Amino acid sequence: MNVGIIGCGTMGSGIAQVAATADCSVMVYDTKQEALDTSKAKLEKVLSRLIEKGRIDEAEKNRIQGNISYVNSLKDLANANLTIEAIVENLEIKRKVFQELESYQSQDAIIASNTSSLSIASIAASLENSERVIGVHFFNPAPLMPLVEIIPAIQTSEEVKNKVVQIISDWKKVGVLAKDTPGFIVNRVARPFYGEALRIYEEGKADFATIDWALEELGGFRMGPFQLMDFIGNDVNYTVTETVFKEFYYDPRYKPSFTQKRLAEAGYLGRKSGKGFYDYGEDSKKATPKKDEELGQEILDRVLVMLINEAADALFLNIATAKDIDLAMTKGVNYPKGLLAWANEKGIDWCVNKMDALYNEYHEDRYRCSPLLRKMNKEEAIFNLS
Ligand code: NAI
Repeated sequence: MNVGIIGCGTMGSGIAQVAATADCSVMVYDTKQEALDTSKAKLEKVLSRLIEKGRIDEAEKNRIQGNISYVNSLKDLANANLTIEAIVENLEIKRKVFQELESYQSQDAIIASNTSSLSIASIAASLENSERVIGVHFFNPAPLMPLVEIIPAIQTSEEVKNKVVQIISDWKKVGVLAKDTPGFIVNRVARPFYGEALRIYEEGKADFATIDWALEELGGFRMGPFQLMDFIGNDVNYTVTETVFKEFYYDPRYKPSFTQKRLAEAGYLGRKSGKGFYDYGEDSKKATPKKDEELGQEILDRVLVMLINEAADALFLNIATAKDIDLAMTKGVNYPKGLLAWANEKGIDWCVNKMDALYNEYHEDRYRCSPLLRKMNKEEAIFNLS
């Protein structure tokens, strides 16, 4: 199969590696020669490291590199059966590129976007034949993260959807189907991990280190929320939250935090700038958590129940199946357990009671319990994850 990649920054380069490893013939295009050179050099480094670790041999490295060509013209993607776009997150630019691409390709070629925040319907609308446009949302780093969200637009044909589901599975990735709604699955369901942690901090209940300790040590999350925000970058993470909030017509559940906004404004972006919630300077002291089990459990329960509520509501609104919602969070962002499986374990009554207690305390719409949890509680049902 011939695969075209448009834009070879962080994501395009990773996706090209995935497709080439699966033995596709990959053509990578970027407007900047420098980006093409960097992408090629980065792949050389990544594959050499895999040899050092004993994961692949020299022949495999040559095979993967031999499957990729770097091209300077969009016209060179004329024969691609599937093209994945990973350029700047700008609707107008993406539309222009798609229109030009359509003029070179045959009608049955599939065109996909790796967009995180634009609607697939709006991108598809730029084409004469919008039935062949679909979202394929990889996670960074694409060669390592198993998850790919597959997002058919309302225009996408059933045939294109089925073909892409098959391709993603052939590429040995975990594909989940998501409705074309803001944040798809992961970027929607994960919001409370950051938002509720920030809120707990803002209320003065605990400091960053204590909240991170609670989620990591007691919850089993790989990184606490503040460490993770510093890792992602406070500018990037804040922008995602703000976009999701606006796209949901200002639903208070997704309200961004001033704490993070100020950090982004100040240039305290996290690891990449040397300072964020934490200080990463050479002689900076490591922040110490207050290891109070009771407080830690309270923090964990509050963030967890908000995450479960969000996952349940995504299911309630048919964003994805229960199984795919749980897969998305474990395979896309390394959650220790699927949130709906976690809800079954904790008990649906526990979830409803916790949400109601939060609502009773604050009387904010942010803490409204999902109607699905309430209904399940009445019926003594559990989530079916098969
Ligand atoms: P990036 O900035 O690393 O790379 C973008 C590349 O596109 C650059 O090399 C640039 O030269 C090239 N480019 C810009 N305009 C172009 C055009 N008209 N034609 C051809 N090439 C062009 O960006 P990144 O982070 O790889 O993101 C790309 C897309 O993937 C965005 O839509 C983003 O929302 C999405 N995404 C990003 C993730 C991330 O963690 N960085 C995760 C999942 C999706």
